[in-house]
Amino acid sequence: MSSKSYLEINNSGLEAVHNHSENAQLRQIVEQRFSRRSLLQSMIGATAVSFMGVNLIACGSNRNSGGQGDGPQIPGQLPEPPPSAFKMNFRAIPTSRADTISVPEGYSWAPLAPWGTPITGSYPYYLSDGRGTGKDALEQIGQCHDGMHFFPIAGSSEHGILAINHEYIEPNLLHANGPSINANGMRPRDEVLKEMASHGVSIVEVKRSALGGANWEVVQSAYNRRVTALTDMEITGPARGHTKLKTKFSATGTHARGTLNNCSSGPTPWGTYLTAEENWAGYFANQDASMPREHARYDVETQNGRYSWELAEPALDHDISRRFDASSKGASAQEDYRNEPNHFGWMVEIDPFDPSSTPKKRTSLGRFGHEGVVFAKAEIGKPIVCYSGDDSRYEYIYKFISKTVYQEGMKGDDLLNEGTLYVAKFNAIGKGQWLALDLNDSEFAAKVEAAKGTKVGTIDFDGFSDQGDVLINTRLAADIAGATKMDRPEWGAICPRTGRVYFTLTNNTKRKFEEQDAANPRANNSTGHIIRWLEREDHRFDWDIFLLAGGTTGDMVGRMLPGKSNEQALTADNILSCPDGVYFDAAGGIWIQTDMSGSMQDGGDHAGDFGNNQLLLANPETGEMKRFLTGPTDCEITGISMTPDRKTMFVNVQHPGDRSTPSQFTSHFPTNDGLSRPRCTTVVISRDDGGIIGD
Ligand code: FEO
Ligand code: CA
Ligand code: CA
Ligand code: CA
Repeated sequence: MSSKSYLEINNSGLEAVHNHSENAQLRQIVEQRFSRRSLLQSMIGATAVSFMGVNLIACGSNRNSGGQGDGPQIPGQLPEPPPSAFKMNFRAIPTSRADTISVPEGYSWAPLAPWGTPITGSYPYYLSDGRGTGKDALEQIGQCHDGMHFFPIAGSSEHGILAINHEYIEPNLLHANGPSINANGMRPRDEVLKEMASHGVSIVEVKRSALGGANWEVVQSAYNRRVTALTDMEITGPARGHTKLKTKFSATGTHARGTLNNCSSGPTPWGTYLTAEENWAGYFANQDASMPREHARYDVETQNGRYSWELAEPALDHDISRRFDASSKGASAQEDYRNEPNHFGWMVEIDPFDPSSTPKKRTSLGRFGHEGVVFAKAEIGKPIVCYSGDDSRYEYIYKFISKTVYQEGMKGDDLLNEGTLYVAKFNAIGKGQWLALDLNDSEFAAKVEAAKGTKVGTIDFDGFSDQGDVLINTRLAADIAGATKMDRPEWGAICPRTGRVYFTLTNNTKRKFEEQDAANPRANNSTGHIIRWLEREDHRFDWDIFLLAGGTTGDMVGRMLPGKSNEQALTADNILSCPDGVYFDAAGGIWIQTDMSGSMQDGGDHAGDFGNNQLLLANPETGEMKRFLTGPTDCEITGISMTPDRKTMFVNVQHPGDRSTPSQFTSHFPTNDGLSRPRCTTVVISRDDGGIIGD
């Protein structure tokens, strides 16, 4: 086994630093050389933000000097829209360490579709002792629920299809006695099959039950479907058929098997589901003496994959398990799986209303650790625009603009196969620009030429063969373009009232003092922040910081709307850490979900201030924010969606009791009987008087 045995894996293994490029330093050199004034401006900007919470109220005093017009700006200067009629008529709940869901008075919750729920085929029962087989798992809800969307059936708010991501697995809970390795150092075949089947996406029809309220149930339905790490998929877009996508399975580089580590997701304007492949790289191992950049820049393992699937014994048919060994074993790429990791790191489109459809990997949206995707409102006659973050320390935020303009009836094949991928550069003065990652863009092409023959990070760069190569190596392309290295971009959401785009930056405890910049203003950023921007003409944008997450004391004091006239400190009603999921309801309320590590919930730097992970609702204009939900022990609160009438909310509870051993469970959610193994589950929330959630 590798030195990093999968038996020892925990979530910290998902936060490696993969970006060793030197964008910030390069940018400083350029600025010193060409513009001492702009360097001075950037330093002023950075300093101002560094001391946020101490002196930025003063910055707010000239907040009308910037706006969307020309002239100098500092972060905190986005124009203020007219106040909304937005209300938050519930009492904030306190933080909690209880092993249950808490919601405000007047609200109720109920679990729906926990891991193991039968949804298709022979509808195999969930076995509470963990003895379910791999075959069972192929017909049941997967584990580790994350991104999710409710697709109404015929516009109903009581009946629809839930698409649920299953990000990864908890091997200690998935198997009756935890994961095992036999005397030969190999993995039992059925354990590997069960693990692969418990990944991916569940498509499941649901409806409100006869009990009413928050009680919903799974429907036995022809829509129900499991998409797993084994499902056949088509590769579309500019990288389709690329040399670097050819494998023994797909000699033409046009088909892939499965989707992995599906973190967040997003509905498309045409009613399909895009699921993100986030921390897929660790599933693969490449033992070759040197790794290609398509593996190295993403941190493919050097000895064994995260769960050692390549060691299944006997191996699964058709190389389904052996493909996780990406070492060069054959005479050519078509005779082995050296290119298998290149089939991952994409956004995958699934039509929830067509269970026989083949999921499509959309290479136009780039290859990285996709957290999720958020689409701007589709407008007839205009291109489609969407955003996606790369959740790893010092990675980037991307934007895609379709080549085709949107017309009614258009779908993914019309809109997502061609377009331009951009990456964000946040300048210190509250302005930013989108940098095209396109060999037809003269600026990018010049940077690529200039970088040839140099080292970009740890990679000896010798150019890109074509646009498919650029997209397969999206991170490297963004390094060369000079994008801003962010504090782990997670979800994005777009305000329906103002069009502002919000992105969570969950944390980055590696950021050093000298690496602070205006958009990532805190060294050792253990509590994260939320950035937002407003698009301008010519691929430019104005941005500011919406929230510095944190507590009421210590190094990481929380501030809402820093630098604005209504800047305010967080209080017991709304302290939070590690924002991750973010979602706008139709009224313009912003829902924020947190994903603190277990050790932070235990205290760490923050003496347990934050309690278990939580969900809060904020008014983006006034900065008022209230805690709405707290989750059970050691879970993450993620995946959020609402019915069209906003009277039902769906939230996911991921990895409750994730520090359990096979014999000792640290949570018993959702049964709370003191005995059962914890199960990841969707939670349904409703108001006891049948009203709108949060209103
Ligand atoms: Fe899977 Fe970035 O959270
Ligand atoms: Ca997660
Ligand atoms: Ca996440
Ligand atoms: Ca997270």
